[in-house]
Amino acid sequence: MKDVVNIDDLRKLAKKRLPKIAYDFIEGGTDDEVGLVTNEQAFRKARIVPRYLVDVSVRDQSTTLFGRTYSSPIGIAPTGLAGLFRHGADLMLAEAARDANVPFIMSGSSTGSIEDLGKLAPDHGWYQLYSAKDQAVSEDMIKRSADAGLRTLVFTVDVPEGSNRERNTRNGWSRPLRLTWKTKFEALLHPAWMMQWFRHGTPYFDNWAKYAGPDASADKVADMVAYQNRAPMSWKHVERFRELWKGNFVLKGIMHPDDAIRAHSLGVDGVMVSNHGARQLDLAPSPLEVLPAIRDAVGDKMTVMFDGGVRRGLDAIIALCMGAKFVFVGRPTLYGVTAGGVEGAAKALQIFRREIDISMAQIGATKIADLGPQYMMWKDEEDL
Ligand code: FNR
Repeated sequence: MKDVVNIDDLRKLAKKRLPKIAYDFIEGGTDDEVGLVTNEQAFRKARIVPRYLVDVSVRDQSTTLFGRTYSSPIGIAPTGLAGLFRHGADLMLAEAARDANVPFIMSGSSTGSIEDLGKLAPDHGWYQLYSAKDQAVSEDMIKRSADAGLRTLVFTVDVPEGSNRERNTRNGWSRPLRLTWKTKFEALLHPAWMMQWFRHGTPYFDNWAKYAGPDASADKVADMVAYQNRAPMSWKHVERFRELWKGNFVLKGIMHPDDAIRAHSLGVDGVMVSNHGARQLDLAPSPLEVLPAIRDAVGDKMTVMFDGGVRRGLDAIIALCMGAKFVFVGRPTLYGVTAGGVEGAAKALQIFRREIDISMAQIGATKIADLGPQYMMWKDEEDL
């Protein structure tokens, strides 16, 4: 870790540790992978105009979200199957988030359990729900999240169907992952990863195991998840989940102001502007492009959060200036946990924290509330 300076250094270390099939699962987009470029490039088009002669000797990046003060405006977005990259990665991410005092969202396809998250990080752990075909399963997961002491539930709405991920198809990806001769050969070239596979076997969708019957195998759980995930989703689900969940309720994957307005009318507390890290619809706009319109539509009434393409503290600053209350990252912390476990995930968070701190000084801001469109050279949505 000592030679790691930025998030891209962590990405390179993660790439070294993983066989191609696993690394491509993290990195990949859909179709022609235009969206991956769109998300990151959106930040490169923005310009931030610094203000000088401001005393920036004391800077504070703490941010209050749903009544809780976090030490930084950066949290960890939900990423499924993290245990495939390093055994126990979900809880390692949770531990790093707890220690850094930032939120961690456990994926609905996680390889760790809601109950363990509740024990480890009740004040920092959020749970991300995928709607199941069998509503009793979703409702049970909501109950389990409440029983575990979690206070924020995130319902991901941008997976109406599996997407066209050609890297996975070419690599022979399957759930659970089965090692073919080709992938076994690849794995042999990555001994640290291979050892974990032998020691711990195929990672499970932990939270779903109980619905697949006693002593369910990884195969059986994966089949059941595949069946449950083929579920139509509608605003009725939002209404039902809102009714059941008493804590903060967030919709993730909102990209249109009208959807944010509708969410607000149904009592949703927050939206996460996100295109799922460009993993669903290749030609979707970047979340940064749609953020200002969503912020204008509901920003004073509900909490608007953001993820997608953030690789630098400065990217986070741009999203905050453009109207996000809080920013999340998916791949960067996955690179970290893959490269170095809890320490690696913590390193990713430290890098963001340091870069945000330095950037605040450079532009003349001493607290997060100072950030706003006045720093942006192109304030309007069209200019991005
Ligand atoms: C994801 N993402 C995701 N989102 C979600 O709501 N549930 C999930 O299970 C997953 N799984 C997942 C796996 C992997 C490997 C990645 C990279 C992403 C999307 C994630 O929460 C987030 O929206 C994006 O990752 C944000 O983009 P960046 O930060 O990766 O550019």
